[in-house]
Amino acid sequence: MNLGKQEFELTEKDFKFVQWFIHKNAGIHLTDQKYAMVYGRVSRKMREKKVGRFADYRKMIEHSKSEQIAFVNALTTNKTSFFREQHHFDYLEKTLVPKWVNQRKQEVRIWSAGCSTGEEPYSYMAALNHANAFEHFSKVALLATDLDTNVLAHAKAGVYDEEAIDSIPKSYLKGNFVKGKGEFLGKIKCAVKLQQQVVFKQLNLLESWPMTKKFDLISCRNVMIYFDKETQKLLIDRFCQQLNEGGSLFIGHSESVGADCQQFEHLGNTIYLKL
Ligand SMILES: C[S@@+](CC[C@H](N)C(=O)[O-])C[C@H]1O[C@@H](n2cnc3c(N)ncnc32)[C@H](O)[C@@H]1O
Repeated sequence: MNLGKQEFELTEKDFKFVQWFIHKNAGIHLTDQKYAMVYGRVSRKMREKKVGRFADYRKMIEHSKSEQIAFVNALTTNKTSFFREQHHFDYLEKTLVPKWVNQRKQEVRIWSAGCSTGEEPYSYMAALNHANAFEHFSKVALLATDLDTNVLAHAKAGVYDEEAIDSIPKSYLKGNFVKGKGEFLGKIKCAVKLQQQVVFKQLNLLESWPMTKKFDLISCRNVMIYFDKETQKLLIDRFCQQLNEGGSLFIGHSESVGADCQQFEHLGNTIYLKL
């Protein structure tokens, strides 16, 4: 854990405190290999707060709820992009929407759990629009949640650097995204009619879930990878309970529901069907 000459000292005991803190508050399992990453994020916070010793920053965390939230935000990994792992968006458009139309569903309910800065839920909206879902169903409800309040604020605003366009397939641009003008030059934004249908809420997946209605699709991608096996198993059970019969679960490419899972059938490409 020695990074040579460091601007601040972060001892093994301090690092253990950070590991304990983020596990308790977010379920995130930080291995010892993450020391350099943690050091970088802790130093940024200490610089921002103008403190020279970790013990002083720790006191701030212990005495202030808002600093606890800020520290959780600083420690989460929020990497995302539009149409990341595109097979899920194709499956929604080409398999799920036609299935729901055949079932004569009126209302479709989707949950993007761990939505980060919003590219994931807006990509689902764009795929639904591309599949004319808004003409087929009287209501399309998309709930997008994350623990991190900073990324949620970004997600709600729905404004991104223009380079983000590179990951959006061309045929999905029209009607779903608009280029910014004036003060938003060099930015893109999700179309208002789609944005208005996404409900963003702060939610810690480890705590109780207030949603009373079940979902047809739950997408929790590249989130569980940060949790320990026990927490992953618990979450898979809870997702199953939160899905309608025959509902679908999408997870990230390096995640799994567990080899002994009886509740889901794996359809390939990290797409699961509730049995
Ligand atoms: C790597 S991003 C994945 C974003 C998106 N799902 C994707 O695949 O592109 C992981 C997100 O999970 C969120 N997260 C981590 N722990 C969480 C928890 N306990 N409850 C809810 N969200 C959490 C983080 O804040 C982060 O935004």
